Amino acid sequence: MPKTPTNKLLVANRLLISDIDNTLLGGSVHLARNRIALTKLMNYLQSSEIAFGIATGRSIESAKQILEEWKVSLPDLWITSVGSEINYGEEMQTDLDWCKHINYQWQPELVRQAIAKLSGIKLQSTEGQRLHKISYLVDPTKSPSIREIQAHLRQHQLQVQAIYSHQEFLDILPLRASKGDAVNYCANKWNFAMENILVAGDSGNDEQMLTSGANAVVVGNYSSELEKLRGQDHIYFTDGSYALGILEAIAHYQWL
Ligand code: GLC
Ligand code: MG
Repeated sequence: MPKTPTNKLLVANRLLISDIDNTLLGGSVHLARNRIALTKLMNYLQSSEIAFGIATGRSIESAKQILEEWKVSLPDLWITSVGSEINYGEEMQTDLDWCKHINYQWQPELVRQAIAKLSGIKLQSTEGQRLHKISYLVDPTKSPSIREIQAHLRQHQLQVQAIYSHQEFLDILPLRASKGDAVNYCANKWNFAMENILVAGDSGNDEQMLTSGANAVVVGNYSSELEKLRGQDHIYFTDGSYALGILEAIAHYQWL
């Protein structure tokens, strides 16, 4: 009989959910320092009381690859493709209920047609395109502003989320999908109170997750679109960058 791995989401009383790029990982300048911080963080996660989740813009395949490259433990919860996909555990078991839930009002072909009319915006390679995520590269010197893009989609009666990160990436997701919506769904499903969830991020696609009501961390190397969150309740801006910032926030919230 195959051995069933313990589902930490059932036994843990805390949940750390981190973005990957430029939050958990990154920092070529401070690589050695970040590596030490990362090791310390992974040691904390050995505890059966803390479950580990990632929330990333990457696809699940690409998330797995980078985590393995950095020798980071694989998560109990995979929130990938900007919250449009949720999977669990080593076996990467797909949450099909989530998939059904977010499919509401999703009309990808109409989205592609509407965005094609705008200048300065081109589709990312096929790797960035998923069932519930259409992703673009934006040239902000030529494209309309994010507000204008949102208004344009509304004029086409398209109820979607348009998420802008690093002044470069634009993701169009179903109305019900974002990293924040996925975190709320998982909190509910796995019975974690929001104050027992710590979320960490650095850029635009983390915004909904950082304002979801969990204890939030914006790491020191954050990107300018998150500046507007400064001063909000439960959002802590750290001095330290990357994993060092997450450790700083764990101490700040006295979370362990
Ligand atoms: C990742 C994804 C890309 C997305 C970006 C911002 O880089 O690969 O498709 O646009 O995150 O969310
Ligand atoms: Mg990031």
